[in-house]
Amino acid sequence: MDIPAVSDDPLATPAAPAAPTLEYAGRTPYVSYTDADVLAGLIHPQTAEPLEVTFIVATQIMELHFQLLIHEWRRCVDRLAAGDVTEARAGLRRSAVVQDSLISSWQLLEPMSVVQYNRFRRSLGKASGFQSFAYRQVEFLLGAKNAHMLHPHVGMPEIHAAVQQSFESPSVYDAAVELLARRGLPVPASVLNRDHGVEHDSPDPGLVECWRLVYTATADGEAGATELSGLADELTAVAERHSTWRFVHYTAVRRILGAKPGTGGSAGLAWLKRAVDTPIFAELWQVRDVL
Ligand code: HEM
Repeated sequence: MDIPAVSDDPLATPAAPAAPTLEYAGRTPYVSYTDADVLAGLIHPQTAEPLEVTFIVATQIMELHFQLLIHEWRRCVDRLAAGDVTEARAGLRRSAVVQDSLISSWQLLEPMSVVQYNRFRRSLGKASGFQSFAYRQVEFLLGAKNAHMLHPHVGMPEIHAAVQQSFESPSVYDAAVELLARRGLPVPASVLNRDHGVEHDSPDPGLVECWRLVYTATADGEAGATELSGLADELTAVAERHSTWRFVHYTAVRRILGAKPGTGGSAGLAWLKRAVDTPIFAELWQVRDVL
């Protein structure tokens, strides 16, 4: 009788349906690969309020999403610099899906009332989202460069270096605009030479005109034009989703905390409102007025 050879290749198709392997010594391969045991050990509520666990896990879930966005957008900057628009656009589409998932995480906090939050708010001490080094990189990669927001990380040199790198490097939008210039669009020199470490939230008329040319070339059916207008649409989708995250955070804070000052020392709601009202990729919104 032929005994089928047992393959060590996890991707090999078994000759016959096999029973699952259930015996392992030590950490299972699943736990080793995913570090699920490390994750499970990261939930440390300090009160008996059940919603504190929800709050901790929701925050951790969002932090993981931020990491995924940093991963996608750093790669996107790299691909745009290399002129690989296909890969850059694929990355932007993936990141929009990550953002949808991130935004839907807010649902976890929907059942939380002001009374339940107050039961554990003291546990936070001075902990605040201001200190999220991953969120700060997300904002920097989208061009929201606020140098003051580097300060909280100074005491953690490795983390500070990573945040500083995102601060000084071109944002996803800078990389897209540099690509437009290489493709022959009349990007003003003042835009191309601008400091990557400064926020540019008021639209530059010359750049609005470049995006207008991109869209009208597509409308006129010019060969190859859809590559850049597709890129513009995907950047817009990412910007829209980030503004949505800011807005849903704002409404959650209004419901759960009200207008009290934040644990990070800001005016809370009023401070968050400013971010809600600040556009991401300003010219891509303004170009709609002239198309
Ligand atoms: C009970 C729910 C929440 C409340 C009441 C709340 C409140 C606040 C307040 C008042 C601020 C302004 C800064 C300050 O003074 O502390 C802030 C900022 C922030 N929060 Fe929340 N937050 C909540 C949930 C979350 C969650 C789940 C996350 C996920 C990571 C988060 C991430 C952030 C971030 C990243 C900032 C900085 C925003 C920026 O720099 O524009 N927050 N939050």
